[in-house]
Amino acid sequence: VSLQPYNTFGLEAKADFFTDITELEDLKNALKWAGKHDLAYYILGGGSNVLLTGDFDGLIIKNSLKGIEVLEESDQEVVLKVAAGEVWHDLVLYTIEQGWGGIENMSLIPGTVGAAPMQNIGAYGVEIKDVFVSLEALNNRSLELETFDGEACQFGYRESVFKKELKGQYVISSVTIKLTKNPILNTSYGAINETLSQRGITQPTIKDVSDAVISIRQSKLPDPVKIGNSGSFFKNPVVTEAKYAALKESYDAPGYPQGSGEVKVPAGWLIEQAGWKGKRIGNIGVHDKQALVLVNHGGGSGKELYQLALDIQASVLAKFDITIHPEVNIL
Ligand code: EPU
Repeated sequence: VSLQPYNTFGLEAKADFFTDITELEDLKNALKWAGKHDLAYYILGGGSNVLLTGDFDGLIIKNSLKGIEVLEESDQEVVLKVAAGEVWHDLVLYTIEQGWGGIENMSLIPGTVGAAPMQNIGAYGVEIKDVFVSLEALNNRSLELETFDGEACQFGYRESVFKKELKGQYVISSVTIKLTKNPILNTSYGAINETLSQRGITQPTIKDVSDAVISIRQSKLPDPVKIGNSGSFFKNPVVTEAKYAALKESYDAPGYPQGSGEVKVPAGWLIEQAGWKGKRIGNIGVHDKQALVLVNHGGGSGKELYQLALDIQASVLAKFDITIHPEVNIL
């Protein structure tokens, strides 16, 4: 099966076996089948956070579990249980239509709901952990559903327990979030405020914030339908205050203090300073408006992209003595 339609880099790669799951029972059966045949498997959501460096010898399970259910509702709040295969941005649009606030800053993040807690997606000052109640995940050995609350998920910056200790052991089947009917907007991120004031909006609604985020993202991030990409390729590294002071002194580097005596430095800035922004090598390259985004202009390969990522990593290390780590899963 060709995986090209199932990854937003648009990379050509083949899987021995592929199944599209719409029922929990089918998911259990697919995992059982993989176990019985001693096959590796990989769960694919929107395919927006994976770099396929070659063919996959095993079973690809596309998670297409659908459904949005209101579990609880009051004058103040609503608790929603959302199936893992729902498209994240469609969920955002739906909640905005209902007037439920909390995830508007995370508009237009590619991918599915099930993939969201996996790496604690975030944008413009908000992360999924901020609205998170719990999730259900299928234990791939017992084939029982287990519930994880926020603490059990061990959320961090683009991290959760499912990328660390429990990697490869669970398949997220649904995510429960709590939204508010009296939205408290988070417009702390400068670009949102700028966009709102350019539009003459002084009393923004969640829709206004969402629209602002959408236009900011569209101005910087390539549309995967037109140019293959997976959003931010690397995570922003966190360095010590001393290290940051030196960077600031020599290069006037931007940085965001983390409170913990550490400072997050935008990887996009480091990569741009290392000379990579807008660079094209054959059919692949670095996006010209956001150096954190690697792109496939069409016909590029996963191996080339992986090599480019390694080269960027090495050159940032050589120039700044900082190691940047991929955010995307490399398969
Ligand atoms: N910058 C440059 N050159 C570049 C890109 C960025 O100098 O080519 C510098 C600028 O100083 C800019 C700063 O980096 O002010 C931050 O850039 P931006 O606002 O674009 O955010 P980011 O830190 O690069 C993160 C997330 C994005 C998210 C934005 C907004 C990560 C890995 N990425 O990017 O998330 O949309 O903040 O909140 O944390 C994603 O994860 O796929 C993603 C797109």
